[in-house]
Amino acid sequence: MSAINHVAIIMDGNGRWAKERRRPRFWGHVKGSQIVSEIVSSAVEQNLKALTLYAFSTENWSRPKDEIKTLFKLLEKFLQRERKNILKNNVQFKIIGDITNLGESTKKLISEIEKESSHCSGLKLSLAFSYGGRREIVDAVNSFLKKNPNQDITEEDITNSLYRPECGDVDLLIRTAGDQRISNFLLWQCSYAELFFTQTKWPDFNSQEFVKILDETRCRERRFGTVSKNASMDKAKTLAEKQRGAISNGG
Ligand code: IPE
Ligand code: IPE
Ligand code: MG
Repeated sequence: MSAINHVAIIMDGNGRWAKERRRPRFWGHVKGSQIVSEIVSSAVEQNLKALTLYAFSTENWSRPKDEIKTLFKLLEKFLQRERKNILKNNVQFKIIGDITNLGESTKKLISEIEKESSHCSGLKLSLAFSYGGRREIVDAVNSFLKKNPNQDITEEDITNSLYRPECGDVDLLIRTAGDQRISNFLLWQCSYAELFFTQTKWPDFNSQEFVKILDETRCRERRFGTVSKNASMDKAKTLAEKQRGAISNGG
């Protein structure tokens, strides 16, 4: 069994979900934002240490203005709705990404929720908003060099300078809606993540499928560059058999 501590999700497919139903794209975003709470509760029940959800990428700024406005509004509504649940579930909440362009009321809400949940010791929930994996690495390098000028930077320094280093490496990256790409999400943290792509579009995703994916991934063997446990056992067995043969043959 492999331990799954940090799960990241690319919540994709809202637009296609709406299109299938002959509805405008924003309808998919509305439905999609409603499922987030169920997945967060499920992550709490599953005792995950960290959950990072991709809500808006640095590349999503090139979408139509109206769609961006809807996504901003939905973020605010989500935060208003979830505020109580976050505290009730002992969740430590943070936004990762550049939120300077969000409305003042949303920024205030974010800072209040981050502050009041900062003492929570349960799930570390991050919402990646206006987030880019490359931007995060560049920010990490710059913030390190600012504090340590003229010093060579190490992998450990970058890891410790990320937006939320306490979440650690991603163990499992899930992407809904069938596309098999990372789209600039948690590039540094996913270097050894298990990947899981499901056809289910985000508004149809639910806790049953989430738990099933977690269970399946826990059964995967994660080798991190070493040989398989089974392979080394096979090797040891073959070696022992050879040695036994050599002894009984008198060699
Ligand atoms: C994911 O759904 C939400 C965001 C990227 C903000 P999409 O809006 O990308 O939905 P599709 O991929 O077009 O179906
Ligand atoms: C990735 O989805 C970003 C989020 C889910 C927030 P996109 O729909 O933007 O990704 P691409 O453009 O298809 O790779
Ligand atoms: Mg998409």
